[in-house]
Amino acid sequence: MARNPLSVWRPLSLDRFLLGAPHYPEHVDESYWVRDAERMAKAGVNTVRMGEFAWHLWEPREGLFDFDLFDRAIAVLADHGINTILCTPTATPPRWLSQNYPEILRVDANGRVAGHGSRQHGDTTSPTLRAHSRRITRALATHYRDNPAVIGWQTDNELNTSASESYSPSCAREFRKWCAARYGTIQTLNRAWGGDFWALAYDDFGQIDLPRDMAPTFLSPGHVQDYHRFLADATAAFQHDQVVILRETNPDWFVFHNLGNLGDIDFRGTFGQDLDFIGFDIYPMLYDEFRRTGGIAATQALHLDQCRAYSGNFIVPEQASGFGAQPGFSTMTPEPGEMRRMAMTSVARGADGVMFFRWRPAHYGAEIYWMGVIDHDDVPRRRYDEASQFFHEMTAHKGDILGTHVRMDLGIAGADFDNQEAYKTYAMGLPSPLEDATILHRAAYRAHVACGFIHPEDDLSRLKALYVPHWVMWKPEWTARVTAFVEAGGTLILSAMTGTRDSDNHIHRVLAPGAGLSALAGVQVEEFGRLAGPGASGLFPPWPDRVNGGYHPAARLPATSADRAYSFTFGNRDFRAAHLYEKLILAPGTEAIGTWSHRFLTGTPVATRRRQGLGQVIYLGTYMTEELAQHLLDSDLMGVAPLIPGLPQGVEVSCRQTEGHRLWFILNTTEMPQTLPALPAGEPLLGDIRPHGAGFTLPAHGCEILRERL
Ligand code: GAL
Repeated sequence: MARNPLSVWRPLSLDRFLLGAPHYPEHVDESYWVRDAERMAKAGVNTVRMGEFAWHLWEPREGLFDFDLFDRAIAVLADHGINTILCTPTATPPRWLSQNYPEILRVDANGRVAGHGSRQHGDTTSPTLRAHSRRITRALATHYRDNPAVIGWQTDNELNTSASESYSPSCAREFRKWCAARYGTIQTLNRAWGGDFWALAYDDFGQIDLPRDMAPTFLSPGHVQDYHRFLADATAAFQHDQVVILRETNPDWFVFHNLGNLGDIDFRGTFGQDLDFIGFDIYPMLYDEFRRTGGIAATQALHLDQCRAYSGNFIVPEQASGFGAQPGFSTMTPEPGEMRRMAMTSVARGADGVMFFRWRPAHYGAEIYWMGVIDHDDVPRRRYDEASQFFHEMTAHKGDILGTHVRMDLGIAGADFDNQEAYKTYAMGLPSPLEDATILHRAAYRAHVACGFIHPEDDLSRLKALYVPHWVMWKPEWTARVTAFVEAGGTLILSAMTGTRDSDNHIHRVLAPGAGLSALAGVQVEEFGRLAGPGASGLFPPWPDRVNGGYHPAARLPATSADRAYSFTFGNRDFRAAHLYEKLILAPGTEAIGTWSHRFLTGTPVATRRRQGLGQVIYLGTYMTEELAQHLLDSDLMGVAPLIPGLPQGVEVSCRQTEGHRLWFILNTTEMPQTLPALPAGEPLLGDIRPHGAGFTLPAHGCEILRERL
């Protein structure tokens, strides 16, 4: 299968819309199987995913394979027209493996060795685990090579979701090898890591330790950055072993991975280039519970827009269907209609395949209350009905959906592993690029502006504006790309701290922003300093408190920061600044469009504009706040507008398009019917909207797709 380069604009290479569920025939009596297959076929399922946790069944003893159970399960489904995606089962090394080869167990930063009793206990940096992973992958691939019902593979399951770091002796050995391969000589490594600071120079690669928390104080950013680069490379190598075997066994199979929380995965590197497409597991209620990024629907949109930035359209191998729980937490429950709406949001944001997690809930184990399409008592109820409705709708309209990409007017720089890690090596209590970007994304989501994430190496020409959220590690070659974007008419918005370090995490020896951005923006940062976050004390950054855990008590003091508050004026409005100020020097031809209005910075620029070619570069010498994001959207400074003007809050919109037609996804994320204004002329494909005066109504959790021919 020929694979196009990774790009946010890339449609999926499949000719079918994958519809189904992860399925665990090994969890029920075989008497269920035919009934399951019949119900699936009736609901419109065309594919199930199986086997990600079944290594112990496939290889009950080392070297002794047994494919019988899955052979029969695959055959029953195939008899009902349902295909199977198999998974390499390496997320759950069986007991004989962990017992006979304890060196494969992950070790945490405190030296605690993972026990056998859960999952993801295997250390993917371990050469021994890799050898067993190749063995089981080869055995499975060879056995299923000629089975026409097996159409593709998922590698492992959510690599690095439970833990991505390891501190095992074998991990340390592999890290030293990685360092030697990267730097060649120890002198080069010492220069890159800044070995003359705190006497951290090494005499040879064998002396290098893993960066441990108990160092006993802060670690060298270069050392930490490389450890995470190494972990990402090791994860990619672990997957690469499996991909090579699957591809050489049957080149017709597609291969993907289901991403979870993305720890130490450099998706735009080898990891993503190896795959036909990515899968992204989406549990909006779970993610919103953890991150509180603005409501269930906004959180889902944020995650999917972020995921699309890696490689374009994707599939959702696990889409939340109902209540979810593990022993330590539980999520909210989708209301009637909401499961279909959440699945439709996934499609609206680039999914070309959706599988509801899971066909039925488990009756035993650590996820007994994680509901599925069918209930525990084997009775199909509202979740089955909604899945069925959604599957039939997607089947009916797949011809319109496949091949389209998601429109994006406002891009936020994303999907860059080095910048994400560089921030973490030296966070200083400041928001991460993603936290900062989330504020703008959420505002754009509410304003119905087509916003997403994009890497600077991607095709920027389809954007109107690009926001760069504090990327400290800006590469010089990206400057040429964003310059071309600006010259062609785009608006580039650079934010504070961008381009302050090189790829070794060394601060540039010239005033920021470096890597050619200073000339492009027409600014230099003469001075910078910390400000309080909204509502917090500016005097104490969140300092990890090693004795009590969590943050230093001083960080929790009531805000005393009135005397440290800085404000600025921008477009005739006053704003309270947050987190950081920069004092800017402007080059001739750069205009100040916002100025600090308080304390010693009064009258100096905080926001600047430089026109170049047909476009402009805006520089913001501070961090994003909700008010600032709203202002940037309202003021038309970025040249972006709502996709459909006048939509009520709670109704989300996105647009998928290709030559010839556009699909407008208009989704009611609320439990109340909503009145809509005039909509683009187009044929309603789902029939949920009803005419109402000059506009329409959309029922609670209602979904509509308008097809506009171009
Ligand atoms: C996913 C995982 C599944 C299941 C699900 C619900 O992250 O891939 O195996 O655990 O969460 O917890």
